[in-house]
Amino acid sequence: MTYAEAYRESLDSPETFWGKAAEAIDWNKKWDLVLDSFNPPFYRWFQGGKLNTCYNAVDRHVERGRGDQDAIIYDSPVTDTVRKLTYRELQHRVSQTAGMLVDLGVKKGDTVLVYMPMIPEAAISMLACARIGAVHSVVFGGFAPRELAVRIDDAKPDVILTASCGIEVKKVIPYKPLLDEAIEIASYKPTKCVIYQRPMAKAEMKAGRDFDWEEIEAAAKPAECVTVEATDPLYILYTSGTTGKPKGVVRDNGGHAVALMWSMKHIYNINPGDVYWAASDVGWVVGHSYIVYAPLFIGATTILFEGKPVGTPDPGAFWRVISEHKVKALFTAPTAIRAIKREDPKGLFLEKYDLSQFETLFLAGERLDPDTYFWGTDLLKKPVIDHWWQTETAWAIAGNFRGLEFFPTKPGSATMPMPGYNIKILDPTTAQELGPNQNGVITVKLPLPPANLPTLWNDDKRFVESYMSPFPGYYLTGDGGYMDEDGYVFVMGRIDDVINVAGHRLSTGGMEEVLARHPDVAECAVVGVADNLKGQVPVGFIVLKAGVTKPKDDIVNEVIQMVRSDIGAVASFKKAVVVNRLPKTRSGKVLRGTMRKIADKEEYSVPSTIDDPVTLDEIGSALKTIGYAE
Ligand code: COA
Ligand code: AMP
Repeated sequence: MTYAEAYRESLDSPETFWGKAAEAIDWNKKWDLVLDSFNPPFYRWFQGGKLNTCYNAVDRHVERGRGDQDAIIYDSPVTDTVRKLTYRELQHRVSQTAGMLVDLGVKKGDTVLVYMPMIPEAAISMLACARIGAVHSVVFGGFAPRELAVRIDDAKPDVILTASCGIEVKKVIPYKPLLDEAIEIASYKPTKCVIYQRPMAKAEMKAGRDFDWEEIEAAAKPAECVTVEATDPLYILYTSGTTGKPKGVVRDNGGHAVALMWSMKHIYNINPGDVYWAASDVGWVVGHSYIVYAPLFIGATTILFEGKPVGTPDPGAFWRVISEHKVKALFTAPTAIRAIKREDPKGLFLEKYDLSQFETLFLAGERLDPDTYFWGTDLLKKPVIDHWWQTETAWAIAGNFRGLEFFPTKPGSATMPMPGYNIKILDPTTAQELGPNQNGVITVKLPLPPANLPTLWNDDKRFVESYMSPFPGYYLTGDGGYMDEDGYVFVMGRIDDVINVAGHRLSTGGMEEVLARHPDVAECAVVGVADNLKGQVPVGFIVLKAGVTKPKDDIVNEVIQMVRSDIGAVASFKKAVVVNRLPKTRSGKVLRGTMRKIADKEEYSVPSTIDDPVTLDEIGSALKTIGYAE
């Protein structure tokens, strides 16, 4: 099949296209309907079908002769460990952990929160939940207690799975105090916490609430896979929206398994037995889809890497892992490649390793700038593929294919729409479809393909308002860009208050809510400005209340510390300035877009609706004091 045939069929007859793809999954009962479109914009895939996600990821491979093949290779330069789990060992650990959850009272449909560093138990927790039909909600380990508390209050888990610590290069970060503080802040109180004790930091246990993971896992009776509906939720993954309240993206079981399985072969060219590596974190969607589920669905070996592209111990870390474990495809964020390039611009560390079995570097999470694309391609002499996707979609919306048809690359473009994604560029004011090379809002004509979010957790209203009502009949991606005359997709950046910092999705609105809590701050704005390493970093602008006498530098340092402790170090909020006024339109809208352009030294026009143009000059001068707009 050519790409054109696949794409056409996926749009003209989604039932045929995805019905065929679904044959690669093991079903306990076949579906009644491939696509239920009776209640738009709430579409459901594989209505009536029954399956178990964990069975498809683990058990079926053991039953079919892959029991002794590595399922997970845990490579942890920060603890100097390489540990391998075969599919049989993984099945054992997952069944025991699932049994442990059953003993703790977890039933099908219950939520379980997972707050874990990059250790095998993170993947095991997710699979164990899937095994018994519980809904996991993984929270990225870099988030601070307040962020964790917001997620506890929304997901309402009775059980939390965590570890005693994470390790950031050389820093040991005890997780237990963060968890205790989060539970203290949250209104909903989970009753049981299971702690995986790591030797670098032993957690203090709270009698009656906290359990030692290894002890209760060993004592548990193994649990079998339960049958769930294709449309039952597999997980919730919170992602940043435009406010401080994150969106609980829901993933189903059936559509998710089908689309991810299809992607492994056709996008990544991964077959059973191959080694695949997504150098991300289980806390992000890339980690869910491509560290855990997709490689296991297809019977590949997945790498779980507890380290960084640089500093663990050097910028050759990625090349070492690829060569040592015979990785066929690596998926990471452009920022990781920029970090390597910064420390090893000539790529000398690569010379030490044999990468002959390595086929493709896949990048996503932020726009792949042409400089990074060329550097990676020249160094590796292998295809470097940019592909564009979101937490909401679980897999790529646009990309290139190593297992279907490989298109010539255009630097700056994520290449072609994936099957099932009817991408349309719309004019933001008239909602008219725009032609080639015209910049607009990127949308996807409904229905979205399998694995895409069916709704937001307990919030159909916000699902409709955020994604579906702005342009009825289309899903609003939140990104802007264009398609050229050959159908290549160019994603130019977010059109809302979401920013991408080192591939981590964050809300500037959420940071503004933190700044506004400072007693001396009257008004504030946070914008994402360009950064050579991280792609974007947030910069804060604060207006002080009248009569404040405290030194401005102290206030700036305090708000920086507040973002660090309320959201997390991962926000990389390190710069803020005090200004007299924020630039606004006459109707009071803060001109964040114009502020960003000033910081990035892009051309901008003074909006005709501005209430006082002088404020823009003041913003420019303030930015110069912190090294921007110069
Ligand atoms: N737990 C606790 N803290 C964490 C954390 C975690 N899981 N992850 C990051 N942090 C902390 C870091 O220690 C750092 O703290 P510091 O300010 O005290 O130094 C801060 O959050 C910022 O971290 P990071 O964004 O990772 O920046 P860095 O300067 O340490 O490293 C890169 C820069 C480019 C090497 C790193 O961001 C990276 O590897 N990025 C790839 C990201 C990625 O794969 N994203 C997934 C999308 S596909
Ligand atoms: P997340 O939900 O964390 O995966 O972040 C999704 C957002 O990251 C998208 O809406 C884009 O803004 C950005 N993004 C991801 N991949 C790409 C890409 N290949 N090119 C441009 N932007 C990207």
